[in-house]
Amino acid sequence: MSQFIGKTAVISGGADGIGKSLAKALGQEGMNIVIADIEKQPLAEAEQELTGLGVSVLAIEMDVARKSDWERTAKAARERFGDIHMLINNAGVSGGVGSVETLDEASWRWLIDVNLMGVVYGANVFVPLLREHGEPSWLINVASMAGMCGVPLGGAYTATKAAVVALSEAWAQELKDQAVQVSVLAPAFVRTRIHQCNRNRQRRYASHIEPSADVVKVADATTQAVKNGIDVNIVGQRFIEALEAGEFYIFTHPNYQPVTDRRSAAIAEAFQRASDSPFLKDIKQQNVLNFGGQ
Ligand SMILES: NC(=O)c1ccc[n+]([C@@H]2O[C@H](COP(=O)([O-])OP(=O)(O)OC[C@H]3O[C@@H](n4cnc5c(N)ncnc54)[C@H](O)[C@@H]3O)[C@@H](O)[C@H]2O)c1
Repeated sequence: MSQFIGKTAVISGGADGIGKSLAKALGQEGMNIVIADIEKQPLAEAEQELTGLGVSVLAIEMDVARKSDWERTAKAARERFGDIHMLINNAGVSGGVGSVETLDEASWRWLIDVNLMGVVYGANVFVPLLREHGEPSWLINVASMAGMCGVPLGGAYTATKAAVVALSEAWAQELKDQAVQVSVLAPAFVRTRIHQCNRNRQRRYASHIEPSADVVKVADATTQAVKNGIDVNIVGQRFIEALEAGEFYIFTHPNYQPVTDRRSAAIAEAFQRASDSPFLKDIKQQNVLNFGGQ
């Protein structure tokens, strides 16, 4: 029998794309599903689609960048389904392409508030609920392969997704004795509407910067890569497989391994150079510096 039957999952950004594919996959495993999203119409359509699949679903309009919206979502989810067993911090935006010199503050704030603070608020509000019933539960953060490497002209997106990976690593250790399994999902390109994410840019983050030719080129290439990405339903199915196996890093694109291999190799070489450094050897011998740690 599936370990998910009768349990409840809350999925931010669950009205569309990857969030909806996770909602469908988990709903078909027998979970009650709460989809929480900023976009009204797709939210109503997703609610209808999930209901048509026989899933018990609650749809809530909310903005992940507002903590009070998370509190309202938690209250409504508990009133409808009782105990909460899974939070998936999935809502995210990728707009705000720009260089170190040109990306404007409004775009930085938008990405930080949605992609990073949205995850922080979600976990802050829901972790006490995941812990309170003592049953196995899950905290899942959706990062990206972009969080595993630097992407030129995508500094803001890269930074927020790298932060989500780092937070997941920190929280997995914090929560390891609390029956809360923490995982981080890091896809590469998936065929969704992420390239149209400006549709969800709240008015308070409006940007008036004209993008340069370089930026337009990168944005166009990214749009093409998303359109050529894997089918979104593969992510939902792969996610169930990974959760059942208790995976922490959940990857959907094994062909991207060379990206993390190159980074690991560069870090290993840098440590080797530090190990071989005559300067560091010298001060270590003189006991000038306490290297501490390992
Ligand atoms: N599609 C890809 O290629 C890809 C690759 C790696 C990671 N991701 C990540 O996957 C996650 C889902 O993206 P997607 O590709 O399904 O995109 P999508 O645009 O299809 O779906 C994102 C959902 O989040 C919602 N959303 C956006 N801002 C919100 C806010 N402030 N509050 C609440 N909901 C909000 C949107 O309305 C939408 O339903 C994101 O975190 C994204 O960064 C996507």
